[in-house]
Amino acid sequence: MRLVLMGPPGAGKGTQGDRLAEWLEVPRLSTGDMLREARRQETELGRLAQAYMDAGELVPDDVILGLIEELLDDEVAQAGFVLDGFPRTVAQAEGLQRLLAARRDRLDVVLNLDVPDEEVVARLSGRRVCEACSAVTHVDVVGGVTDCAACGGRLVQRSDDRVETVRRRLDVYREQTAPVLAWYGSSDVPATDVDGTGSVEDVFVRLTRAVRVSRPV
Ligand code: AP5
Repeated sequence: MRLVLMGPPGAGKGTQGDRLAEWLEVPRLSTGDMLREARRQETELGRLAQAYMDAGELVPDDVILGLIEELLDDEVAQAGFVLDGFPRTVAQAEGLQRLLAARRDRLDVVLNLDVPDEEVVARLSGRRVCEACSAVTHVDVVGGVTDCAACGGRLVQRSDDRVETVRRRLDVYREQTAPVLAWYGSSDVPATDVDGTGSVEDVFVRLTRAVRVSRPV
């Protein structure tokens, strides 16, 4: 199964992408996670991405497509994947289609998590991420606790989760990523909107239903 999970920042792509990947027994490939890891390791890619990410802007398409091309050739992605946070521009969607066609592959389904702006801002301003194991949680869940329940690491706020940056990320989403949904809508890949509000469990049930409709698993 080759699935693309889309949606605005904070829609729950990471949260649901992990669950979908486990359910489908394929890896979740997140360009955001890869860029953050590159920043942690202070690689050339990490240094290049830093200013774009902190400003809420997109990292250039050629850089991202280079990352994806490497991933598609990796053993880990051969049985399928859940792509989270990619493609984010029409040029990235076209590039992905070209890369897959060259490997005689194609996408099976695109799912778009629909979440209103106010909910996005509430989710992201309260999101906390473990510095050590990258587990994601929310202050509504952990309250004032600052240690990760999974590994004991320190829970911190992501540098791009400040309210002004979240607003810029939403603008960038509308300007550059929303057109990707229209592009898929006119392609032959099944593309479906899924209500991303309600509990994590309810959203997951809706997503699995949409996957089953697109292709029985
Ligand atoms: P990226 O890391 O991809 O960020 P994003 O798309 O903005 O998405 P988020 O990770 O913020 O949110 P999410 O949808 O995964 O939500 P989550 O599950 O965490 O990208 C970061 C940056 O990297 C970009 O701005 C850009 O600079 C760069 N980049 C990455 N990919 C790129 C690309 N392809 N091209 C160019 N640049 C790229 O949930 C959010 C919070 O909500 C959590 O606290 C969670 O616990 C909570 N939550 C989740 N579900 C629910 C629910 N149902 N109810 C209540 N709370 C919930």
